[in-house]
Amino acid sequence: MAIKGIGSDIVEVSRIQRMQKTYGSRFLQRVFTKGEIAYCESKEHPEVHFAGRFAAKEAIAKAVYQSGYNEVIPFSDIEILNDDQGRPMTSLLTKIRGNCLVTITHEKSFAVAFAVLEN
Ligand SMILES: CC(C)(COP(=O)(O)OP(=O)(O)OC[C@H]1O[C@@H](n2cnc3c(N)ncnc32)[C@H](O)[C@@H]1OP(=O)(O)O)[C@@H](O)C(=O)NCCC(=O)NCCS
Repeated sequence: MAIKGIGSDIVEVSRIQRMQKTYGSRFLQRVFTKGEIAYCESKEHPEVHFAGRFAAKEAIAKAVYQSGYNEVIPFSDIEILNDDQGRPMTSLLTKIRGNCLVTITHEKSFAVAFAVLEN
């Protein structure tokens, strides 16, 4: 296994709330997969989980671009679901090659993610 790229990102939870308010479900559907929406909406504070996923997608995009890939990556092509222990697992629904590891943390106001692309 070799590391091909790394990325990190921080997202203010209120930014996600503003986008939801302005663009409604169109925003969610453009950025998140059905599975991600179902996961976040099952939580008491969906906005922090959406913010965590948004940060994760930006972190993953940075890791992928760092590897030399230079096409647009629609965020809905990156899916982050949790396994039965709660660990975030990434699926890249595009032609990007490699496995992407991601870690997410969030507090009330901010979410942070870090990603590693390996092959
Ligand atoms: C995993 C753990 C360290 C997370 O700490 P936390 O402060 O609650 O988490 P944060 O608020 O910083 O981050 C939440 C994110 O952590 C991630 N996460 C949750 N459980 C996780 C786990 N087991 N491993 C890795 N990441 C985990 C998720 O991505 C979550 O965000 P999401 O639900 O929006 O996807 C803590 O819940 C813990 O120690 N749990 C016990 C786990 C355990 O006993 N597992 C059994 C192992 S055999």
